[in-house]
Amino acid sequence: MKKIAVVGTGYVGLVSGTCFAEAGNNVCCIDIDVEKVEKLRNGQITIYEPGLEKLFKRNVNEGRLTFTTNLEEGIKGQEIIFLALPTPPGEDGSADLKYILSVAAELGKLLKHDEFKVIVDKSTVPVGTADLVRKTIIANGASPECFDIVSNPEFLREGVAVDDFMKPDRVVIGYSNEKSKTIMGELYAPFVRQGNPVYYMDERSAELTKYAANSFLATKITFINEIARLCEILGADVDMVRLGIGSDDRIGKRFLFPGIGYGGSCFPKDVKALVKSASDVDYNFEILKAVMNVNAEQKVILIPRILEYFGGDLSGKTFAVWGLAFKPNTDDIREAPALEIIDDLLSKGANVVAYDPEAMDNVKKLYGDKIKFSNNQYEALHGADALIIATEWNEFRTPDFDKISSLLKNRVIFDGRNLYALDMMKKLNYYYSSIGREIIK
Ligand code: UDX
Repeated sequence: MKKIAVVGTGYVGLVSGTCFAEAGNNVCCIDIDVEKVEKLRNGQITIYEPGLEKLFKRNVNEGRLTFTTNLEEGIKGQEIIFLALPTPPGEDGSADLKYILSVAAELGKLLKHDEFKVIVDKSTVPVGTADLVRKTIIANGASPECFDIVSNPEFLREGVAVDDFMKPDRVVIGYSNEKSKTIMGELYAPFVRQGNPVYYMDERSAELTKYAANSFLATKITFINEIARLCEILGADVDMVRLGIGSDDRIGKRFLFPGIGYGGSCFPKDVKALVKSASDVDYNFEILKAVMNVNAEQKVILIPRILEYFGGDLSGKTFAVWGLAFKPNTDDIREAPALEIIDDLLSKGANVVAYDPEAMDNVKKLYGDKIKFSNNQYEALHGADALIIATEWNEFRTPDFDKISSLLKNRVIFDGRNLYALDMMKKLNYYYSSIGREIIK
């Protein structure tokens, strides 16, 4: 059993805190948001993540997971302090470290000389942040002997974060002190019992590992999206090409699904931040710049197709949009392609009726009555000129096509996620335009 403090109860903090508690550790989460802490204390979860609520409630009830707004109280007696604070992108794309550094300054004043604490950067932070945090803590009065900084990036996918945390493919630990290496190794031992590796390295390599992983995956997705564009021109089918290349172990099947681009809170931010970090040291990261440009185009790749189908004029047309979240099983709409599509449609004078199983409340906050929302996927179709699919929620995979056909004004679907088989759409007599495949007319 370890005694852990987690500073920041956002997505990463809450998932990490809950999962550490679930493994039997004693966890105190700290946040400056009084209202949020009150809710969490009362066993009310503040984020949507499948499987998390059950673990959260159990550990709150059993007293292993507690919450406070007071940093001094929260870190008292804890051996490990995780920093899971936001690093929002600044204007220039670089990660803003103000939250991390202000907590580091406070910690500098609070750390006791006779206690050793491991302070762990869990947030995605640019290379060199561990050094900066260390300097800030020392500058605020703590002695270098009473703490160590560890860089331990998270690789959690929204929607499967609990599983990713409990059974990680790998754990990366950047350290510079043997004592903290041992403590971190003990902490993670229960999570890697199935034999997955813990990689120990220097802090800079650990920090770069996170950016390199996300940027590589964003590049892989973007690569297949460009192959998809080429497939359309050459008359090939990207889903066949994807299978053909993905079966080579060196390439791998995962993250090779073409679509309307990557979104979310991580890939766009991390790719941009790595390009900026590189340019700060006079390195021009060309491939990632191309990835950003291609992805920006990909998010709205359906628009010219929709325009062409409707003869260049969308005014007064109504579009049903299925899926608003940036991917299924989340209510997260950050950088979601659906929103860019909706903005474009609205700017061209079209009406939008949207449906998403989880993300509608978040979209309502942004759009108010600029678009309509429907209670279920079919209601959205009522009298619409076409259906646009932006997120591959499972419930969209095998819909009732009789119902769809009877509700839509025209049998027209623009599918940004390649959900349906082409021969089926042919039989059903649809106009069906997807990504990197023949258009069924
Ligand atoms: C990602 C990383 O996977 C995770 O390791 C990291 O810690 C945080 O960022 P997340 O943003 O939750 O996780 O989503 P992920 O499942 O990775 O998908 C990211 C985006 O890529 C989504 O917009 C998704 O639609 C898109 N994607 C993914 C594709 O377009 N094609 C694919 O084949 C896979």
